[in-house]
Amino acid sequence: MTNKPVVWITRALSNAILERAGQKYELITNPEDAPRSADEIIAMSAKVDAIVPCHSERFDADVAAKLDSRLKIVANYSVGVDHCDIPALKQRGVVVTNTPDVLSDATAEIALLLMLGAARRAVEGDRMMRTASWKFWSPSFMVGKQVSGQPLGIIGMGRVGQTMARFSRGLGMQIHYYNRNKLTPDLEHGATYHDTIESLLGVADFLSLHCPAKPETISLMNAERFALLPDGAILINTARGALVDETALMGALDSGRLSAAGLDCFVTEPGGNPALAKYDNVFMLPHIGSATDQTRDAMGYRALDNLDAFFAGKSPKDSL
Ligand code: DGY
Repeated sequence: MTNKPVVWITRALSNAILERAGQKYELITNPEDAPRSADEIIAMSAKVDAIVPCHSERFDADVAAKLDSRLKIVANYSVGVDHCDIPALKQRGVVVTNTPDVLSDATAEIALLLMLGAARRAVEGDRMMRTASWKFWSPSFMVGKQVSGQPLGIIGMGRVGQTMARFSRGLGMQIHYYNRNKLTPDLEHGATYHDTIESLLGVADFLSLHCPAKPETISLMNAERFALLPDGAILINTARGALVDETALMGALDSGRLSAAGLDCFVTEPGGNPALAKYDNVFMLPHIGSATDQTRDAMGYRALDNLDAFFAGKSPKDSL
């Protein structure tokens, strides 16, 4: 028996994170890294004081209603919290935190990779090399869309959006953005603010999504909005799959409204949308925006900072 709070870490995290966590908490871990079901979450809530879940574990209203009163805090190992019904959890007296800031660089790196790869036909080129089918070269061969100097529209100018803007300024891109609030000039760095998404879309030859998935942003990019983009625009999504109506996305690719897309997240995860596989102009990755050792450790430490504050009787920095 120890007096340490009991913490369930739902997925396999690095030894460095587990070592630090083990100093203050009695841990229940998941070395086999299996995703955990709603029933397991509900059952475990009677045995632990805290849960450190990933976005792969869902805390919807039904789960929240069935949680045992022993559980006091859900310290997410993620910045996105669309897997949590926060009002329902709060109503049960459960504190909810996330891990902002620490994954902005890694996620913006993947957004940049997707933007460049989609624009410069990475999928086709890579396949050609792997299948020994590069038999021809001419000035018109594999011509893509130039990225440098082009307009980039960003929806959601929070931490990741601002980092994407900073990286893209390095390519000489002209940054336009839509955000609930206009940023102050020191954060804008010369970017052009649009007070409606519709106004932004009209100039977004490249469009990168960086807003959270909430009821009001589900299918934010629908058929009507795709129609407002310049012909041959390129969509990048590293935020959440739910922001994009995937049927409308395929319609926009078919019509040429979009010349390409770069996607790291999908409506259905894991798995993605098999119907997208036929599009060589869609560069896809399996939700790996934050997947670097450095960032994954930083996310773990940030979740532990929140737990430590909570169990020290303070308000965690990232309380939602
Ligand atoms: C996040 O932190 O929200 C990433 O998508 C990984 O879960």
